[in-house]
Amino acid sequence: MRIPLLAANWKMYKTPAEARSFVSTFLQSPPPPNKEIAIFPPAIDLPAVLDAAKGSVLHVGAQNMYFVDEGAFTGEISAPMLVAAGATHVLIGHSERRQYFGETDELVNKKLLAALRHKLVPIVCVGEHLDQRDNGETDAVLRRQTSRALENIDAAEVAPIVIAYEPVWAIGTGKTATPEIAAEAHAVIRHEVAQLLGRPASEAMRILYGGSVKPDNAAQLCAQPEIDGALVGGASLDPVSFGKIVAAAP
Ligand code: 13P
Repeated sequence: MRIPLLAANWKMYKTPAEARSFVSTFLQSPPPPNKEIAIFPPAIDLPAVLDAAKGSVLHVGAQNMYFVDEGAFTGEISAPMLVAAGATHVLIGHSERRQYFGETDELVNKKLLAALRHKLVPIVCVGEHLDQRDNGETDAVLRRQTSRALENIDAAEVAPIVIAYEPVWAIGTGKTATPEIAAEAHAVIRHEVAQLLGRPASEAMRILYGGSVKPDNAAQLCAQPEIDGALVGGASLDPVSFGKIVAAAP
């Protein structure tokens, strides 16, 4: 039984005051108890969001972190710092990190190992570009990103890991993958996890879909047995719209 996870990736939006105001509005209608809900604000908003979410069911995570615990790495934030601040989750290898900040599969793996070491729930993002899909490379890309991310991790450690399938062509474009396309990709990822870590680990792993998830398509996507929740960008910036997505997921 995989508990659905609905995650809000705010990307580089919202000041601390705006972040706080989102949380108080969102919590005005009590979220359903049978789903995990996590907010990923910009790092500078973490204290405001954690404070506003205190005592509620909301989980709070970071959009990125570095894999070293401390050191001369200007501009970076480490896993122990996130834990000390109160964060419980972290996004790793989002396609925007890969595309604009040069993150490689190797770096994603190092960050994943660091997240596990510090007991953060990691959401590892994978997904193909449009030209890769057009060239019939989708399965190979997903298998490569998944296996490289999971290098040096064994079945005993894998439980907290969540994977998010985010086809790059669907992010911020309004072009959502159909539930069938998404479910097919999820099956490829789950099969790869089974090959690497065995069936029990793969059956227990949550795989989220991300890419233009909106209140009007969330129910259909999340109804697919392969889809265990959503990683939402644009539509998570408004508390009412994110609330509708949370409510729509079965
Ligand atoms: P959009 O929902 O804005 O397409 O963004 C998806 C995403 O990248 C979430 O991480």
